[in-house]
Amino acid sequence: MDAFVIHGGQPLRGKVRINGSKNASLPLMVAALLTNKPVTLEGVPALADIANMRRLLQELGCEISESAAATGAGRRMTLHTHDESTRHARYDIVRTMRASISVLGPMLARRGEARVSMPGGCSIGDRPVDLHLRGLRALGAHISLEAGDIVAKAPPGGRLEGARVFLGGPAGPTVLGTANVMSAAALAKGTTIIESAACEPEIVDVADLLNAMGAQIQGAGTPRIVIEGVAELGGATHRVIPDRIEAGTYMMAAAITRGRVTIEDCPIDDLIAVCDYLKEIGVHIRATDDSMQRRVRTTVDVSASDRLHPTQITTQPHPGFPTDLQAQMMALLCLADGNSVITERIYPQRFLHVPELSRMGAQLIRQGSTVVVTGVRELVGAPVMASDLRASASLVLAGLAARGTTAVLRVYHLDRGYERMEERLIAMGARIERVDDKHLPTNGQGGE
Ligand code: EPU
Repeated sequence: MDAFVIHGGQPLRGKVRINGSKNASLPLMVAALLTNKPVTLEGVPALADIANMRRLLQELGCEISESAAATGAGRRMTLHTHDESTRHARYDIVRTMRASISVLGPMLARRGEARVSMPGGCSIGDRPVDLHLRGLRALGAHISLEAGDIVAKAPPGGRLEGARVFLGGPAGPTVLGTANVMSAAALAKGTTIIESAACEPEIVDVADLLNAMGAQIQGAGTPRIVIEGVAELGGATHRVIPDRIEAGTYMMAAAITRGRVTIEDCPIDDLIAVCDYLKEIGVHIRATDDSMQRRVRTTVDVSASDRLHPTQITTQPHPGFPTDLQAQMMALLCLADGNSVITERIYPQRFLHVPELSRMGAQLIRQGSTVVVTGVRELVGAPVMASDLRASASLVLAGLAARGTTAVLRVYHLDRGYERMEERLIAMGARIERVDDKHLPTNGQGGE
């Protein structure tokens, strides 16, 4: 298995261009199941999760081709569903990626029936799918569980029916649940109103693509989405929004190394809470474009003072501070002057990075869904274990700032969400290499 060996202490300097969003690309790819015309996406990132989704969609009758994007950044992917006879998303694929649940609504809406293996637990929490099912039931679907599969059938006549749907759960709205129900409702008979819809930028991106395909969706990006169902959807070409979590991660990488980084194609307005907190703790963020229009792709300079202040953060649904940047922010706050408090409201168990950061000298006390971070003068390199995507990113950030050598094991988690991260960090002056963990010393104590 691959590992990163990081020799810390180099301030990052240079430029990085943000890739297309992983969490937008996945439901955007799935939208190809809603039509038998080609759907072309530009700027799809080259990630393990995208490859898994590609495999799943191919099994479901979608032909997929890829080339370099005309716009320069990322790849161009054309998806063309030519065979709608398969209705089963098998456990073999679903277990590799929970976002596979996104095919349920589109397959049900278009094929009248769908069978999707029930996603199991996940290292960051329970992650139930009850809200997805509640939403599809409200549209008239009959849903049962058979041999570990969710089996969903459209009402007699084969078409879902518009309805008023409430998608709020104990931790707020659901992102992929909103995408699932919105996509299914695009082909339903009549009007659907989703209340307590997720407001994430990825939902706006999916609605933009569906509208380009002929759907009639209004209100995406607000808690109330109104969908007038149409009988057919056509093809479209669409550019994927930049990845706000990747952008936030590189901002924090610049800050933790006290470097100076220019971030191109940065969706700064999708990072409003993140930028507010970063500025509050002493990170300098300057966008080249100060227009009042929504800035989806702008150039941003990020640098940090030697001393950072502590803060208190609670993760929230968009536009609040995202759970997907909680681990990286914790790494940064480990090196602030004083006590910070981080509360995780979306996935209260998402703290696999805590014991690993502690191995590097971080002072962390966890109580339930809250961690108190007492800033330390330095982190010290150590062998640490990546356990999920964002936890891995936080360990890489900690390694970049630490004294000595850090080995981050199991970076396949990182490859699910960050394209060629080590190459991009090296281009900004980091000393980091990808190695086979067989070549790491087994006694494994880091430090110089
Ligand atoms: N929830 C329910 N019932 C449901 C669905 C969700 O109770 O039916 C709860 C979850 O347990 C959680 C909260 O609602 O407490 C929000 O979950 P959500 O459904 O919004 O998560 P998701 O759509 O499955 C996406 C991202 C995650 C990101 C979350 C929250 C994708 C592919 N995944 O997941 O991304 O953390 O939204 O913003 O879009 C990541 O990229 O590292 C990642 C985990």
